[in-house]
Amino acid sequence: MPPVGSRDWLRWPRDSDRPRFAYGADYNPEQWPRAVWEEDVRLMRRAGVNIVTLGVFSWSRLQPGPRTWDFGWLDDVMDLLHENGVAVDLATATASPPAWLTTAHPEVLPVTRTGETVGPGARQHWRPTSPVFRRYALQVTTALAERYGGHPALAAWHVNNELGCHNVHDYSDDAAAAFRAWLRDRYATVEGLNHAWATDFWSQRYTGWDQVLPPRLAASHVNPTQQLDFARFSSDALRDHLRAEREILHRLTPGIPVTTNFMVMGHTSAMNYADWAHEVDFVANDHYVLPEPGGADELSFSANLTGGLARGRPWFLMEHSTGAVNWRAVNPAKAPGEMARDSLLHVAHGADAVCFFQWRQSAGGAEKYHSAMVPHAGADSRVFRDVVELGRVLREDLDEVAGTGRLPARAALLVDWDSRWAVLRDSLPSSLLDVHDEALGWYRAFLEAGVRVDVLPTDADWEGYGLVVAPLLHVLPGATARRLTGYAEGGGHLVATYFSGIVDENDHVHLGGYPGPLRDLLGLRIEEFAPLREGERVALDDGSSGTLWSDRITVTAPETEVWARYADGPLAGGAALTRRPLPGGGSAAYVSTRLDGEHRTALLGRLLAGAGIGSELPEDLRGRVELAVRAGADAEYHFLANRTGEPVKLHHLPGTPLSGTAAGGEGGEDARVLAPRGVSVWRVPPRDPAG
Ligand code: GLA
Repeated sequence: MPPVGSRDWLRWPRDSDRPRFAYGADYNPEQWPRAVWEEDVRLMRRAGVNIVTLGVFSWSRLQPGPRTWDFGWLDDVMDLLHENGVAVDLATATASPPAWLTTAHPEVLPVTRTGETVGPGARQHWRPTSPVFRRYALQVTTALAERYGGHPALAAWHVNNELGCHNVHDYSDDAAAAFRAWLRDRYATVEGLNHAWATDFWSQRYTGWDQVLPPRLAASHVNPTQQLDFARFSSDALRDHLRAEREILHRLTPGIPVTTNFMVMGHTSAMNYADWAHEVDFVANDHYVLPEPGGADELSFSANLTGGLARGRPWFLMEHSTGAVNWRAVNPAKAPGEMARDSLLHVAHGADAVCFFQWRQSAGGAEKYHSAMVPHAGADSRVFRDVVELGRVLREDLDEVAGTGRLPARAALLVDWDSRWAVLRDSLPSSLLDVHDEALGWYRAFLEAGVRVDVLPTDADWEGYGLVVAPLLHVLPGATARRLTGYAEGGGHLVATYFSGIVDENDHVHLGGYPGPLRDLLGLRIEEFAPLREGERVALDDGSSGTLWSDRITVTAPETEVWARYADGPLAGGAALTRRPLPGGGSAAYVSTRLDGEHRTALLGRLLAGAGIGSELPEDLRGRVELAVRAGADAEYHFLANRTGEPVKLHHLPGTPLSGTAAGGEGGEDARVLAPRGVSVWRVPPRDPAG
């Protein structure tokens, strides 16, 4: 696998490659008359905007017909931006095919699971596997690369846009053909496929590749391995599109980095970004915070995982919002301070670019009620004043932070894409399970405990961490099981949860009692699952409680400690939380239910203590403030984010505040105050590596 980010970062147009924050937005000048462009660049200068993403949805303007091109307007915009010190992340414009293309070639339109053709009229109405679409997309990519590869404003290429946002699962005949090719690559023979898909079940045995289809609408549960493979294939098909555009860009414009905007956010899981991160020169992400209590925790989790995908290196926040979005049922504006809080939380987790969708709020079209840096009200608005201030903070207060990496935490939390997909399918013991929810629950427990944790994909290097939590790691191939075992036997502290280690990569159950390959390590064995009904809660004898799941556990190793037993229900008296100390000083713990929030935090406290990991925050700040740390050669940068709705006093913190606090001492006391939703950044001397 190629290393993540071989070309690393933006090629800044004018001066040196000195690290600095990129600040800007998607810019859609084609929606506005030229007079507005002049105002745009004036306001961009005022806001400190130094980069825009251009051309995401401009295909129909750039190529009005199969053989006609119109680059004049884009030439002017590129020049104007460059004259005003604004660099360009130039999109390949392939996200939304023009009407002439879909009229001439309706065969590029995706097909749903139930056989309906997705019409044009919105965006991303293309099949990832359509050879016709690919040909046209690569044609426009080539034309852009040839025309703008040498333009001094060009800082990066932006392949397509949010690949898979609307078209990840396509069930067309093109998809069927490409799926077969993908399966042949994976299994070589039809017999190999028959084995992997367990096709002797329900008489599904295939005798030729031509019989194999995507998991289209069927009479009952479609073969689960077929579903899992289709999820893998669908992610790979879009990744292949990314590769195809990227290859052209690398070939025609060597030295210009190529990225695409991921959607590491909430329950979005269809694209395997752990895999895609190897395909881009730097990782870029879009994130829209949930407008609900705890939304910032999810933002932090996603930003943290994005940092993990970027392997600790700076990454690019390509889109978030200054205020409301337009695509939820109800779309509230952000409260004062929230926009800056969101931006700086991303920076805390390694973002070196803070960009928004979009620069100027559209007057027409489906996103006219989506916020922007310049709102409908114009520059004389709270939003724009806040935008200007955020630009100043990044440019002046936090300049020295740019280019620093994240300081590894001592604990890691693993996210596994195969498991995310596998537990979302039908025909499981419970349809209520969700890897993201479980992982986020553990992440919150870390935030409550005031202990930093790195969220990492399962294929990352996590062996050096003191504690590793692997929530709902349902799909467990032998190699990963051996890694986990080696880790714990070598002195690491592993925490596994319910419904983990159940199947191999083909979705075949590890036999002999659950959780197959982790059984001996955990020192327990489970014969039957005991999922809980929706709303059902199970009590444990340590006062904690859980939902969703329980297990009838037989403890098999004498040294396995039972930390809590079920206190009621059919499993009363049975082990619920266990931990097996290992001879090498490590341990393997098992959590058999979805613990309720504060109980998970209490358990995590015990597990952390057992691993010798403490909080780096003063006691009065734990849980109230999130700490994230970036580290440069000469200093650490501690980001403190207020998780409460109240001002928080920061006493006796080491270092110097760079931004985000106000003096707040009373009676001669030396304290700084962190406002509700505030994020404060402190420069702290680097720690002694020996200490
Ligand atoms: C996505 C897209 C943008 C825009 C925003 C709105 O992130 O990439 O083009 O539609 O959503 O939130």
